[in-house]
This record gives sequence, structure tokens and C-alpha cells, in this order.
Amino acid sequence: MKKNESPFKLAVLISGEGSNLQAIIDAIDAGELNASVEVVISNKASANGLNRAKQAGITAVVVAPVKGRTREEYDQCLLETLAPFTPDLIVLAGFMRILSADFVHAFADKIINIHPSLLPAYKGMDTHQRVLDAGEPYHGATVHFVTEKLDDGEIIIQSRIKIRPDDDAESLQKRVHVEEHVIYPRAIQWLTTRKQDLVN
Ligand code: GAR
Repeated sequence: MKKNESPFKLAVLISGEGSNLQAIIDAIDAGELNASVEVVISNKASANGLNRAKQAGITAVVVAPVKGRTREEYDQCLLETLAPFTPDLIVLAGFMRILSADFVHAFADKIINIHPSLLPAYKGMDTHQRVLDAGEPYHGATVHFVTEKLDDGEIIIQSRIKIRPDDDAESLQKRVHVEEHVIYPRAIQWLTTRKQDLVN
């Protein structure tokens, strides 16, 4: 990053452990990713990723769904929470909610997601078990742009692993996580070089 250039601002959305968030924080600390995490938002107060954010001195906010409110109302609340942080990129890191069309349009081409499969194969949940049940030779992780369709959108980077005879869903989850922690910071770093395209 050149002097006087503003940092590439990330808002990271999580629901759980936050190991991908940690990989992003670590990559920034290591000087491998020229970005700053401005805010971490979780839909769950119990998400361990919130602790990881606080540990790193990052603002951590819970936006909890309220019973009886619509997805659109929740996403409006999310938009209002995000607005003061003026993020260049919204990074979904294990955020287990589907975003409404209004939210996706508000940040068109500025939302990315990581998914534990070799998309377009195995969209949705329980990918590790489903891949095993199908007898697939390979598995992996994908970083992609977010569109209105679930686990759709242009693919940015993928990492592929060969499934071993002794793999189960738990071992696959661990092995895929290792790959995710490599490709997510790398994808974001690549996008920092396209900042002008994203902003304009
Ligand atoms: C990751 O494996 C990510 O690919 C997955 O949730 C996990 C979050 O882990 N995301 C999805 O399944 C989204 N469809 P983390 O909280 O430790 O980063």
C-alpha cells in the first residue's frame, strides 16, 4: 500500500468459531494482507469469533434476529450497523444466514463468501458428509462473490484436496479449514488490488 492511501476496509460477518476471521487477522498482522478489519458482526452472541475480534482490538457487534421480524428487516438492521464503517468489502466467514436481495444489491460486487465445497458442487449444508456419501475423489473450499442465489456467484479461488480412504466428516472439515485459511486471505489480498473497480 502506498503512503496516504486509505486501507482496504473489511467488515467480517460470522456466526461461530471464527477461524477464518482469525486467518484474516493473522494475515494482516503478518503483512500478507493490506487491509484492516473495521468491524466484526455476528448474528449469534455466543460466537467465539467475537472473542477473537475483541482480542485483536476490533469492534465486535451482535445483530441478533428478532422473532417475528422478516429477513428484510434483519438485513436493514445489518445495513445500518455496517454503514458507519464504510466497508470496501463484506467478508462472510461462516455467516450462516441467507442475505436478502436488497442487502446484496446495496453492496453489489462487494460481498464475498467462503464455502466448504468445490462449487458449483455441493451447495448448502453438510458438505463434508455429502461428499463422502457420494464417494467423491476430491473435496475442497471455494471463495466466491455473493449473489441473490445461495452459494452462487463468480468463483474467485478454490483449493482442492484428495479424499483419503480413512477420511470422515470431521477429518474432512479440519483439512478443508486448513485450505480455507490459506485461500481466504489470498482472495481478499487480490481484491485489494482491484479496489478502484470495487469502489467505483
Ligand atoms: C467454514 O468452513 C466455512 O466454509 C463455512 O463455515 C465454516 C466457518 O468456520 N461456511 C459455510 O458453510 C457457508 N455456506 P469458521 O467460523 O471457523 O471460520
